[in-house]
Amino acid sequence: MSRLDAKRRHIVSFTLNGAPAEVEVEPRMLLTDALRYGLGFTGTHVGCEHGVCGACTISIDGAPARACLTLAVAIEGAEIRTVEGLGPAPGRLGVLQAAFRRHHALQCGFCTAGILMSLDAHLFRHPDPSREEITEVIGGHLCRCTGYAPIIAAALEAAAEMRGDTRGTGEAKTSRTDGHA
Ligand code: FES
Ligand code: FES
Repeated sequence: MSRLDAKRRHIVSFTLNGAPAEVEVEPRMLLTDALRYGLGFTGTHVGCEHGVCGACTISIDGAPARACLTLAVAIEGAEIRTVEGLGPAPGRLGVLQAAFRRHHALQCGFCTAGILMSLDAHLFRHPDPSREEITEVIGGHLCRCTGYAPIIAAALEAAAEMRGDTRGTGEAKTSRTDGHA
């Protein structure tokens, strides 16, 4: 990246949940602030602002990343995915989100967007995860409400549903419709 003038605002162009996006930012602006205040994508939450709690987790080029540790100017040309991109259409839940609802895997919901984004990225690459794997993935997130057990149950059920494996999930399931190609 070329040297940026700290006194100037810069236009950053990228893809956000499959659509072209642009935001004007100062070089020091965090991606969390660019998403929330610059673009109105408030589904990405801000907790600790120093990389510990996981609330701000989004996907950058398919990998989970802490938006609070990312400068907005660094995402020029990147594919960004946020929790708003998980549903197949506005007002509809993706497979993972629906499993969270069935299992009561959220209470206050503050941690939920970040956990969903980490799980979504993991399930895309590892469609048949073990309980231990899921436990490790969510180990990077702090949740003060749920005790984590319902999150693990939801993730395992969503993974089975995405694979079309109806054993233990009760009924025939639809395919994944949450935006991954
Ligand atoms: S707000 Fe980014 S990790 Fe806590
Ligand atoms: S649901 Fe409240 S922090 Fe996780």
